[in-house]
Amino acid sequence: MSNLNDNFSFNETNEREAEKILAKYPIDRKQSAIMPLLDLAQRQNDNWLSRDVVEYVANFIEIPFIKAWEVVTFYSMYYTKYNGKYLVQVCGTTPCWLRGSDQVAKACKEMISPDQNTLSKDGLFSWMQVECLGACVNAPLVQINDDYYEDLTYDTTKNILQSLMDGKEIKVGSQNGRTSSKAVS
Ligand code: FES
Repeated sequence: MSNLNDNFSFNETNEREAEKILAKYPIDRKQSAIMPLLDLAQRQNDNWLSRDVVEYVANFIEIPFIKAWEVVTFYSMYYTKYNGKYLVQVCGTTPCWLRGSDQVAKACKEMISPDQNTLSKDGLFSWMQVECLGACVNAPLVQINDDYYEDLTYDTTKNILQSLMDGKEIKVGSQNGRTSSKAVS
């Protein structure tokens, strides 16, 4: 599990990135930069935000900790616990469900953990069911970290997870040969 949360501070690269983000806002409105700064901090901290990290960001923009924590706990894009190197978000909303998301979740249960929000044995994966990911036209799909894998079946989901476990490259997007969201003939 990540232990990057103690005494957190932006590394040199992210310090520069944070300054660029701050420069987009009026000097007396730097608290408006909270969302991209939390995202930046989360990426540096193995994709989760501990209390220490949130405190750091709150201090960075000079707001009380609780204000930053309210933002963190309101939006589903921020995580307050470590989810592994790969967080697999399985869409279970109606269009994906009608197209077989139960089979996608089954593959995750078998290969990651029977329960969602639980780390795999190797500590590298977890999965969770989420609401519509906004790509229903290519249902069913998962989001793994920043990427979408679409038009999934039980088998293609298993292949994707196995490839990640083996450190192999995998194609993002549709897994059935579809180009973008064009109709499949
Ligand atoms: S219902 Fe799954 S992406 Fe919209």
